[in-house]
Amino acid sequence: MSKRRATITAVGHWVPERKLTNADLEKMVDTTDEWIRTRTGILERRILDNGATSDLAVGALRVMLERRGIGAMDLDLIIVATISPDMFFPSTACLVQEKIGAKNAWGFDLSAACSGFPFALVTGMQFIENGTCKKVAVVGADKMSSITDYSDRNNCILFGDAGGAVLLEPAANDGEGILDHILRCDGAGERYLHMRGGGSLNPPTHETVDKKMHYIFQDGKSVFKVAVVKMADISAEIMERNGLTGKDVDWLVPHQANLRIIDATAKRMGLDPSKVMINIEKYGNTTAATIPLCLSEWWETGKLRKGHTIVMASFGAGYTWGAVLMKWTAENGR
Ligand code: UT7
Repeated sequence: MSKRRATITAVGHWVPERKLTNADLEKMVDTTDEWIRTRTGILERRILDNGATSDLAVGALRVMLERRGIGAMDLDLIIVATISPDMFFPSTACLVQEKIGAKNAWGFDLSAACSGFPFALVTGMQFIENGTCKKVAVVGADKMSSITDYSDRNNCILFGDAGGAVLLEPAANDGEGILDHILRCDGAGERYLHMRGGGSLNPPTHETVDKKMHYIFQDGKSVFKVAVVKMADISAEIMERNGLTGKDVDWLVPHQANLRIIDATAKRMGLDPSKVMINIEKYGNTTAATIPLCLSEWWETGKLRKGHTIVMASFGAGYTWGAVLMKWTAENGR
């Protein structure tokens, strides 16, 4: 008997209305639209003024459930990938479960920063494959504005707020759904990308606040050098071990941290640039939300279609990185 595979049967995303443009940032820190555009590819991001990460997640989930034509009561499990949870505990998944009324679901949060979505997707997949769940909601949501120092020009230009969600269900046919994955981490990356304040290592004190330890710290140049190699390598590796060339892949769905990292990954995969999902210009880096946000936008405009072969790829804090290969099965959005 062939293996029971998991597949994505619905997608949704939600972003707040307020835009923070490069022109706005020029007024806040010593930067220019030209610098931001050429170094990152970002033109604007969305900011959630009222509410928390659970609200981003709920917005995305509601869209996803409606598109699938099911209710929250139908969900068995909710996994929320985030590094900006509403609070330490309870988990954001519990808060989301209550807000949408998913009374039959259990849930938990998963912390893998910018690789949060692929890590959560592969985790959720296990419950479909082993038969214990029929419908698993996997959410990537981050209110990055809540941990961004808007006086630090190195970081505040990069991040935005968003939520994205997918539904995992058993695939109907062989050779469909999530076919392969490679996930990795290396804790030696902690020193280059972290938020050290507020946890058990540095519980909140006046000193931790004065030292701005509750904000993202990133040594951008060091992270860039590793990210550009690792994300490209892992994407090439998953193609090679599945006997695929650039011609066989319909879409690269990359984490949106920097346009230059995305371009390098596509090049290494031998992909035509027209096969790469890019929306970094509109949203910046929304951490766990970037990949489901792309999937949802490309699906709803009819560009991501049933039968397409896609590779999702990520790199983020930890370091964490990963690639997921799948044959898309959700009925066409348009
Ligand atoms: O998503 C999780 C993983 N994260 C990533 O993958 C991000 C990886 N890193 C990057 O994407 C890039 O390193 C950044 C976009 C963060 C920075 O770009 P960069 O080309 O590596 O710039 P840099 O940090 O080397 O800075 C170059 C110069 C510096 O000035 P000097 O030392 O050359 O005089 C910075 O002080 O640009 C300066 N700079 C800025 N100038 C204008 C840094 N931030 C800004 C700014 N506006 N916002």
